[in-house]
Amino acid sequence: MQGALAHSVPAVAEPLAKGSLMDPYSLLEPAATRVRDPLSGRSLWVAGMIQDARMDGETLKFVLTVKKEHSAEDRQRLRDAVVRNVVGAGWAGEVNCTIRVEGVAVGAPAAGPAKDPVKGMSGGGVQPHGGPIAKTPIPGVKHIVAVASGKGGVGKSTVAVNLAVALAQRGRKVGIMDSDIYGPSIPLMMHVNGRPIANEQKKILPLRAYGVECMSIGFLVDEKEPIIWRGPMVMGVVNQFLKDVDWGELDYLIVDMPPGTGDAQLTMIQAVPISGGVVVTTPNPVALLDAVRGVEMFRKLDVPVLGVVENMSWYEANGVRMYPFGQGGGVKMAVEYGVELLGQVPLKDGIRSGGDEGKPAVLSGESVFDGIAASVERALPV
Ligand SMILES: Nc1ncnc2c1ncn2[C@@H]1O[C@H](COP(=O)(O)OP(=O)(O)OP(=O)(O)O)[C@@H](O)[C@H]1O
Ligand SMILES: [Mg+2]
Repeated sequence: MQGALAHSVPAVAEPLAKGSLMDPYSLLEPAATRVRDPLSGRSLWVAGMIQDARMDGETLKFVLTVKKEHSAEDRQRLRDAVVRNVVGAGWAGEVNCTIRVEGVAVGAPAAGPAKDPVKGMSGGGVQPHGGPIAKTPIPGVKHIVAVASGKGGVGKSTVAVNLAVALAQRGRKVGIMDSDIYGPSIPLMMHVNGRPIANEQKKILPLRAYGVECMSIGFLVDEKEPIIWRGPMVMGVVNQFLKDVDWGELDYLIVDMPPGTGDAQLTMIQAVPISGGVVVTTPNPVALLDAVRGVEMFRKLDVPVLGVVENMSWYEANGVRMYPFGQGGGVKMAVEYGVELLGQVPLKDGIRSGGDEGKPAVLSGESVFDGIAASVERALPV
């Protein structure tokens, strides 16, 4: 952090790039967010019904995935509503929407998206090795929210922890799961440690801190144990946390993801139905590029992107805001990729010390996290 501050660069807001509308999801996300699925009661976007979007020349193509239970009139009405919203947003090209009924084989496989920045990943709804995804819900858990970033050290755990505590402060039943097996942060940041015990059904009981149910590999593995031993455990532990922990009744389970968009993240995202993804980034261009990968990762796996949190946006010195990582990066990314900017978190010693001392800054009145929690509640009502 010291180094970053020492090399502060002047703040220059870059102009928004033209051609951003060529990203099909930037058109479809707002269009589908405004249409409600009569079966699930959620928006088509949050319900994950918009898939395989791509631009084919001047034509925007996408698939509307419906269930057998959707009536023919509903299917038509939902398709027309999305198309109308896309056109209403100013799209002048053609729109081609295919309706796909879940569980019913289609004649020709849907083509993948035009660009594929996340290496080795296939289009929505299909595992890298082919075959449909079998997502098992966690009983009692209403929404799983994954907090991810393309890059390490941008403040994922800080955001995850403060978001969890902020939701708990708002009266929600919340859990947090540390899926970062190499660098578990929850024990320190939530000031919670000890060995969890199992209940009569042999399910692990999480530890509670600040009204939040917590689970971390840090509770189970000795800090001094060499990390190399943990490698083979990654997938097993992630699965165990998702399936063998008795989370109880939760409105939100916040998952603090390991940095990056690799295998561990894909397994995690494909193992359970994630209601929404939050991408954390710092405002500098390199971090933003990685954050875009995070957005793409969620989209390709049909996880609705709730938005982006710009962390370390500025710090204040003598009442003047300084922008050590540049200014406007988060806004620019939000506009270009059609995602919500959930909040801008300042670089503050209180936020750092809140993490190190195990007292999340939101407890000391850092209100930005409450605003982020409110947005999550709005996107994923309970
Ligand atoms: N807004 C902020 N102001 C001050 N310090 C911050 C802020 N956000 C994060 N930090 C500090 O930066 C460090 C890295 O943050 P954090 O551990 O949350 O990042 P991360 O993305 O989870 O990292 P990793 O990729 O290693 O999991 C921590 O020491 C944290 O306290
Ligand atoms: Mg972390």
